[in-house]
Amino acid sequence: MFQHVEPYPGDPILSLNEAFQKDPRPQRINLSIGIYFDDAGRIPMLPSVREAERRVVEAAGARPYLPMEGAANMRSAVQDLLFGAGHPALAAGRVATIQSVGSSGGLKVGADFIKRWFPDSAVYLSDPTWDNHRAVFEGAFLECRSYPYYDATTGGLRFDAMCEALRAAPERSVVLLHACCHNPTGVDLTPAQWRELVPVLRERRLIPFLDLAYQGYGDGIEEDAQAVRLLADEGLGFFVANSFSKSMSLYGERCGALSVVCPDAAQAERVLGQLKFTIRRNYSNPPLHGGQLVARVLGDADLRAMWQAEVDGMRQRIQAMRQALHAVLSAKRPGRDFGYFLTQRGMFSYTGLSPAQVDRLKDEFGVYLVRSGRMCVAGLNTGNVEATANAMAAVLG
Ligand code: LMR
Repeated sequence: MFQHVEPYPGDPILSLNEAFQKDPRPQRINLSIGIYFDDAGRIPMLPSVREAERRVVEAAGARPYLPMEGAANMRSAVQDLLFGAGHPALAAGRVATIQSVGSSGGLKVGADFIKRWFPDSAVYLSDPTWDNHRAVFEGAFLECRSYPYYDATTGGLRFDAMCEALRAAPERSVVLLHACCHNPTGVDLTPAQWRELVPVLRERRLIPFLDLAYQGYGDGIEEDAQAVRLLADEGLGFFVANSFSKSMSLYGERCGALSVVCPDAAQAERVLGQLKFTIRRNYSNPPLHGGQLVARVLGDADLRAMWQAEVDGMRQRIQAMRQALHAVLSAKRPGRDFGYFLTQRGMFSYTGLSPAQVDRLKDEFGVYLVRSGRMCVAGLNTGNVEATANAMAAVLG
């Protein structure tokens, strides 16, 4: 009956993480999946989230279905977080927000919506991008194209080529942009480049779709929302999917949201209605618990301040690990420039290692990176950074 079903080749990130879990070598090091581990190599339970959970559990009663669009307190907390409380777009009721199953769920609901209402639009993805972006949009039967982004020779951004490609894109094309902490390269647009991009988006009547999965890991919670606020200030219509997996260390709770900024409140209401329809056809309504943790943390001034300090701490620890890795590698390979570890931002660095070198790292040293050469620097700690640098130096030859 199922003989015609083809074998699944696996996912470049999640299947690698599964392989890591099965690796019996005690010294193995997981720098593959985008998860923040603390200095003891554990996924942290943030004290702000723990306290929020205590309160949520204490107050818990019956578990009704949430509305299709999710919990009202979570959705409005997300809007304030992304746009800043009282932003004119919020005051005007121009933003339609749904609680989603992680930001992947927000991307998927957005992709289905785009396929229904902008069926001829292609989706432009950065070259490279998160492996699953293409899968999500192609899974919604949208055509995916790419725009130049990462410059392998300089380790920087091909901003002019990116703008040129977007200027040549057909009107109403969707442009997927990483709002901060680009995955996989760690190379972001500067604030000035974001401002330069706005007229390109406007003139070509492009549809920006921001992915904000790493809020707080770049420069800070507020700072990392700047691209969202800029596009909203400029009066553009756009989509933004955001996640609390990383920022609240709530990976398995699958907490995220999708917001669509519309020209006016009447359109936002229609968009929200169609997003609800999309959700109903997919999974009916989102789960309750994780979203309530998010709403509690964001809705209580003390927990919100605690959370901000915790995110600052995680970001600073990653920066310290970047410096440590850079220092050991520069000492071991004095002729090479490892400056990219210091300039790239967020959880990831693009090491430039070839797939063969990445395979050697895994097979000979038990150090797991994604085969593209992406390293999750948030998996480094004081106990494994030296071994990682030694292994890298060895495969670099
Ligand atoms: C990653 O890029 O490693 C994370 O976003 C996890 C995932 O789902 O791929």
